[in-house]
Amino acid sequence: MASHFRSAERQGAEEETKLTAVSDEVTPQDEVVVPEAAAEPAIAEPMPEVAAEPAPEVAAPEPEAVHVVTASEPAETDQQPATESVYSSLAGDDAPAVQRTGTPTVSFKNVTLIYPAQPNKPALDDVSLDIYPGEFVFVVGHSGSGKSSLLRLITRELRATSGQVIVAGQDLTKMRNKKVPYLRRQIGTVYQDFKLLPDKTVYENVAFALECIGKPKSIIKAQVPEVLRLVGLADRMKHFPDQLSGGEQQRVSVARAMVNRPPLLVCDEPTGNLDPAISLGIMKLLDMINRAGTTVVMATHDREMVDSMRKRVIALEAGHVVRDQERGGYGYYGAL
Ligand SMILES: Nc1ncnc2c1ncn2[C@@H]1O[C@H](COP(=O)(O)OP(=O)(O)O)[C@@H](O)[C@H]1O
Ligand SMILES: [Mg+2]
Repeated sequence: MASHFRSAERQGAEEETKLTAVSDEVTPQDEVVVPEAAAEPAIAEPMPEVAAEPAPEVAAPEPEAVHVVTASEPAETDQQPATESVYSSLAGDDAPAVQRTGTPTVSFKNVTLIYPAQPNKPALDDVSLDIYPGEFVFVVGHSGSGKSSLLRLITRELRATSGQVIVAGQDLTKMRNKKVPYLRRQIGTVYQDFKLLPDKTVYENVAFALECIGKPKSIIKAQVPEVLRLVGLADRMKHFPDQLSGGEQQRVSVARAMVNRPPLLVCDEPTGNLDPAISLGIMKLLDMINRAGTTVVMATHDREMVDSMRKRVIALEAGHVVRDQERGGYGYYGAL
């Protein structure tokens, strides 16, 4: 796992070294990626580190922090059974189970988060969990249950009030602010509202993410078209966001999140503004990115999607982890 992330120190020293989550080739700063290489997206290849990781022992889940409370209870909504779902094709039974061994990509140890505005109501209360390299994890729960807060601790937009948040072996509760940008370069983020720059084209929106971290033009010219091809937007590069559908805009934001090939992708309700048919395309994309080795943590309250995809599910209720289940479903929470 350590090879997926660079330490903050190494990042500073080796600014242009590519991460290995989606490609294990290391491209020096001034090397132009040849179009042939770009035409075959590295991201489509499963990562040997993840697939081949030896796993003599499967780490036990955190039994104290976890209990299955509702999985067998019936859903009260009119959602269709999984077999009827548009997401059925992503059921994932053919995906090899990720071995939970080695250093977790994300580790929460007794994490409590209290917003100053709500001192008596922790947004997260004594949360412990481990997410290993290559996992795809849904974080589910009611609105207000703490999903976004959990994700914002991973990106160090927030700092835990107590406990430890460890990402790639670094304790974010102790990390100095000046190191946070280096952490963020290794975490792609996708949000419900896309957050695209309206006066930049598709190409420029994605390129901007690389310009901000000082990538040379030669790298930008090679990587931006490559990632836009990957998300199916090769013919939309010159369009502006308002000329695109919602699904296309979200593809741009996925491209922007992935263009620097981060080993971890954090998505906060990325399909929240999209209808199911369009969401399916986004989920296929995230699934493909995950199968290529990127760890994906995604908050959602799309019950049908979670029930269909049979990924690991971490369920939150009022800031507590109430369930952590491999190949889980959404579970029963009453009206959401
Ligand atoms: N900036 C904030 N200031 C104060 N309370 C907040 C803030 N953001 C979220 N909260 C509270 O924290 C709890 C968890 O919110 P959030 O993490 O946004 O949940 P979710 O993403 O599951 O809807 C809620 O009670 C919410 O009101
Ligand atoms: Mg939220």
